[in-house]
Amino acid sequence: MLAEPVLPDAAFSGPLQSAITYEKIPTHIYADAKAASRAVAHEIAALIRQKQKEKKPCILGLATGSSPKTVYAELIRMHREEGLSFHNVVSFNLDEYFPMEPDSLQSYWRFMREQLFDHVDIPAGNYYVPDGTLRADKVAEFAKHYDQQIAEAGGLDFQLLGIGGNGHIGFNEPGSLINSHTRLMMLDHSTRAAASVDFGGLSRTPRKAITMGIASILGAKRVVLLAWGERKAPVIQGAVEGTVTETNPASYLQTHPNALFVIDTAAASELTRMKAPWLVDSVVWDNPMKKKAVTYLSLTLEKPILKLTDRDYNDNGVSDLLAQYGQAYDINIDVFNQLQHTITGWPGGKPNADDTNRPERALPTHKRVLLFSPHPDDDIISMGGTFQRLVDQGHEVHVGYQTSGNIAVADDEALRFADYVVDFNTRFGIKSPEATRIFQDAATSLRNKKDSEMDTDEVRQVKGLIRMGEAKSTCRFVGIPVEHAHFMNLPFYETGKVEKKPLSEEDIKITMDLIEKIKPHQIYAAGDLADPHGTHKVCLDAVLEAVKRLSHKNFMKDCWVWLYRGAWAEWDIHEIEMAVPMSPDQVTKKRLGIFKHQSQKDGVVYQGTDSREFWQRAEERNRATAGLYNRLGLAEYEAMEAFVRWKG
Ligand code: F6R
Repeated sequence: MLAEPVLPDAAFSGPLQSAITYEKIPTHIYADAKAASRAVAHEIAALIRQKQKEKKPCILGLATGSSPKTVYAELIRMHREEGLSFHNVVSFNLDEYFPMEPDSLQSYWRFMREQLFDHVDIPAGNYYVPDGTLRADKVAEFAKHYDQQIAEAGGLDFQLLGIGGNGHIGFNEPGSLINSHTRLMMLDHSTRAAASVDFGGLSRTPRKAITMGIASILGAKRVVLLAWGERKAPVIQGAVEGTVTETNPASYLQTHPNALFVIDTAAASELTRMKAPWLVDSVVWDNPMKKKAVTYLSLTLEKPILKLTDRDYNDNGVSDLLAQYGQAYDINIDVFNQLQHTITGWPGGKPNADDTNRPERALPTHKRVLLFSPHPDDDIISMGGTFQRLVDQGHEVHVGYQTSGNIAVADDEALRFADYVVDFNTRFGIKSPEATRIFQDAATSLRNKKDSEMDTDEVRQVKGLIRMGEAKSTCRFVGIPVEHAHFMNLPFYETGKVEKKPLSEEDIKITMDLIEKIKPHQIYAAGDLADPHGTHKVCLDAVLEAVKRLSHKNFMKDCWVWLYRGAWAEWDIHEIEMAVPMSPDQVTKKRLGIFKHQSQKDGVVYQGTDSREFWQRAEERNRATAGLYNRLGLAEYEAMEAFVRWKG
């Protein structure tokens, strides 16, 4: 059995059983991926043990990707510490890129060995991964045989799934039919773009994969799908609450009698029970819930807050709010004022002004500000307008660049710089044997580097320096002394790979040391939850842990922590506690500040699924935030940056 999720299923159990049900697949929501994965691993372990008692094999369908890693880690732990044996496990993996050599860095065969099989006692020969080395004309025959092997083993007892941003399960891309079996599939552009991170660019990413079909997956006796992070939220909402459609293949799981979605709160954020919980069950109408409901009502009815009527409240499931607070007029004014008070052109506080209704304190007039930037460009991308205002308004602004960002520099860019230094030294007769060696080694290694080979130490140094130079250039542009740029080079990041090390004591210590040195009145940090395995989340964990450990210090009593969002998503409108407007000219200036990061412009290494450049993403998002305020009936600004205060 799964351990208790933090939120009960809306449609299928417990107190949220309601007249209006939206969810068509049982869905368990957990506080985080770790707790959720533990629960799933325990279900798998119980099944394996049950089958052992019955002296039967346990037939598992397994997935790769980032989502199941934490499940596999927990299974390994149970094997080591609790004697969970895999001797009776037979497993079939969902998919493999095509073509693909099994020992390639990106092969799913290798992934499974590294993440699970090499660490447990599953007998060699008991696990199957589609064969990416076949000749194309042999794949159909192989695929048929793969399905037959599963059938002969007695069918899958349990199928573990992740979900693509486009709804794919396995590599069944949108358009896959419900009766599809194992086959060769052309990968969607968005799937390839997401995978390109592992392949070092889109052009090196395979176009095809062999995947189990939808029918093969639906044939499993039990199916559990995992999803972590905000980026999965829209597709999860569609699969769970939408109609069954080939455009979102995960929605086919609505037809399975024993499917379960296990997701974290970020991936659940678009579900009705999260977005508009009053539509699903009775809620406690505290102030945050009131703000959430009124902004939701205003935006869905496309009516400014001050124009909402009693009837709007009654007809749209918010009559309880009226019952509690009286008439629409009073509620509207209250929420409108609250939103109005979040807007400020004085992010460091307005000197000599009454600050009762302002997001920041007026005093001290000149604050020390420490802005944490996970990568060398997040400061300017995510809060460039606010950064500039803080500097212009006379605050002492420091930036803590948390990681080197070295893996995101393209090889040819690094080669250009390495060549430059070698040529520079030669031209001016500069004899620094060590420096020349480093740059020469880097240049040689870059020239000979094979696809998907890891960078050498020297190359990483060169790439890190490039990003450091760009960050310094932004600091000069915004107007802070270069000594106020602190390059923290947190060790968790330095793997040379997309996959990072877990947060360590050393990372926390470096962060604490910088906070102690600056003794800031304000800390800004990236409060990103979009990618729970990503750099931003680890950087946030480091800051919050450091702040917690320093909380007994006197200077910390006077320190406020503000969270901004990274390049992907914005805070929900009802959560925003400070919104800093920008004029059209300020937007243009911010864009020029982002341009200082030349290595991240035009065909970047880690483009992800979003084909827009970073400055475009930032501008569109900041304009969208201003647009929301405008639609709610507040003043119309060109763009806005938004913050939430973290209170521990
Ligand atoms: C992997 C697979 C894919 C992934 C999906 C999500 O075997 O078949 O469907 O589950 O692309 O990937 P992550 O978990 O990396 O977000």
